[in-house]
Amino acid sequence: MSKLDSHSIESFLKEKRKFSPSKNFAKNNLLKSIKEYDKLYKESIKSPEKFWKKMAEKYLHFFHKGETIYEFNDYRVQWFSDYTTNVSYNCLDRHLTNSSKNKAAIIWEGENGEVTTLTYLQLSLEVNKAANMLKSLGVKSGDRIAIYLPLIPEAVVAMLACTRIGAPHTVIFGGFSSQSLQDRINDSGCKILITADGGYRKGVATPMKNIADLACENSPIIQTMIVVERTKTKINMQPKRDFYWSELMAKQSSQCEPEKLAAEHPLFILYTSGTTGKPKGLLHTTAGYLLGVTLTSQYIFDIKDTDVYWCTADIGWITGHSYVVYGPLSLGATVFIYEGAPTYPNVDRFWQMIAKHKITTLYTAPTAIRMFIRHGSEWPLKHDLSSLRLLGSVGEPINPEAWMWYFEIVGNKNCPIVDTWWQTETGAIMISPIPSVTLTKPGSATLPFFGIDPVLLEQDGTPVQKNKGGLLCIKKPWPSIARTIYGDHERYKKTYWQEIEGVYFTGDGAHQDEEGYFWIMGRVDDVVNVSGHRLGTMEVESAIVQHESVAECAVVGKPDSIKGQSLVAFVTLKNLQLPSKELKESISKLVEKEIGAIARPEEIRFTEVLPKTRSGKIMRRLLRELAASGSIKGDTTTLEDFSVIQSLQKGASDEE
Ligand code: WT7
Repeated sequence: MSKLDSHSIESFLKEKRKFSPSKNFAKNNLLKSIKEYDKLYKESIKSPEKFWKKMAEKYLHFFHKGETIYEFNDYRVQWFSDYTTNVSYNCLDRHLTNSSKNKAAIIWEGENGEVTTLTYLQLSLEVNKAANMLKSLGVKSGDRIAIYLPLIPEAVVAMLACTRIGAPHTVIFGGFSSQSLQDRINDSGCKILITADGGYRKGVATPMKNIADLACENSPIIQTMIVVERTKTKINMQPKRDFYWSELMAKQSSQCEPEKLAAEHPLFILYTSGTTGKPKGLLHTTAGYLLGVTLTSQYIFDIKDTDVYWCTADIGWITGHSYVVYGPLSLGATVFIYEGAPTYPNVDRFWQMIAKHKITTLYTAPTAIRMFIRHGSEWPLKHDLSSLRLLGSVGEPINPEAWMWYFEIVGNKNCPIVDTWWQTETGAIMISPIPSVTLTKPGSATLPFFGIDPVLLEQDGTPVQKNKGGLLCIKKPWPSIARTIYGDHERYKKTYWQEIEGVYFTGDGAHQDEEGYFWIMGRVDDVVNVSGHRLGTMEVESAIVQHESVAECAVVGKPDSIKGQSLVAFVTLKNLQLPSKELKESISKLVEKEIGAIARPEEIRFTEVLPKTRSGKIMRRLLRELAASGSIKGDTTTLEDFSVIQSLQKGASDEE
């Protein structure tokens, strides 16, 4: 427990403001009072199978409804195992038989301002063609497809096309380096890669195909590359391996029967950071996942026919999968997506687009909110944001100040805020207000969603008291939980189910107040949350130690007023080499090459030694303290060599 940061408990405990749920919401919502929530919640926990079966059959289309609802043996979770369904059918076909057919499914705005709208019918035709395109390349149900694309409509089309034919996708965020791309392609064994010539970011065409080429040089496992032309930059097309998306698509029929897939058919693999070793490929399956994201989109985002819903996440992250693509499309919503940087050409780009497209729902991350705060309230205030009716936050704890600014300046005090806590592993939102009924408190993700039973425990499994920090765990598997770590079920068992026996362990610390509200305090392991992106400090360390001049290194997170946390690398050099600016730069470059720009350390501190225990373990706790406060006051009794502290502190003050 020593890793839990007691300062954050105290600061959040002082937060006493409360905001009543919106009356406007309650009027035409599924839930009209907190009593109704309590009742349904209790039922869902008492008889989860009954609850989930009822919701599944109400909210999803099944080709066949079976008998088996839930199984959990040897840490293998199954939901609805003898049901069959198809995700693309749920997200498209079922909306074509009613008035949604000609409604906008996707409104896309490019960074340069161009706008493309795809109705449900148009999106469906594209997805059918893309599914046929994959089939024509020999893709069979179960084959994995890598997607490395900018945020353009083709990305959504490609994902849905995979689901139509039962080919699990693995989407790799466009900002990742060739090394990261290659690792993910190899781990998931993809034979096909869908990429683009490039994408726009801050007015610049950033190359992607070149990076994909590099990734494939060392992993010839990719047999076919499909290339979307976005920036029209010059690229090399390798004969017989590379094809243009537009040329292949032109040849396809726009009719492709959706595969009738078992509910537990693999839907996608998505990589995320853990404490040790390589990123984990979390495997999500079909019906349970879709049920989780559909139901939460309905209750938490209150999606209505009149909404223009915008979740600002990239499709390379779980938020993009669950709340840009699958949840809202399953409900037949109009989804807005934006290709580029939030501050391009000016810092009011978000506000300008909200006014232009009359966006009703904005779901973004605290790091973005804090960045907008820094630029000043005049930017949002210049625009008519009155179309907004609901605001959402995700990715990290939102500090009460940022919450208040979001509420007052962006929402003009009219829009409830849903602070949604969840993870790549949980697939869907686990803890969040329901805007029509939940009283909100700035900084708290409030109460659990239906069917979710979170508890706060000590390492040994004893429950913690109210207002005391504990490890956030969830008692029983729910439908949208990741089923395994691709290729490594042992690691899945160990990481999530055996850390604290008998429950799912989230890796987060939290406390519950006297009203049962959850206040998430952040990670308790060696995972750092930089701008809402999860980075394992180990991954960054392994990149840095590859540098020829580096002997040893330890990477820790320190609090950052915009990014939430930033990375600090403590580095010792080989052969008494002298630190230099050039060396710092080349280490940063190496991290960028190995992982991507998001992992570049904010600070690199050269030191002669690292603090270690007698058994040789680096004491990251001391480094965290030093990085955050500039000095070390915590317990140092297990330290092997006390003079290290002085030398580290001296090193820190020399640089300032
Ligand atoms: C970690 C999961 C799934 C959302 C995108 C990130 C932190 C996420 C909140 C929140 C406090 C949050 C947790 C969690 N986190 N949402 N509302 N309040 N912390 O997905 O990359 O899998 O990261 O993000 O630490 O464990 P992810």
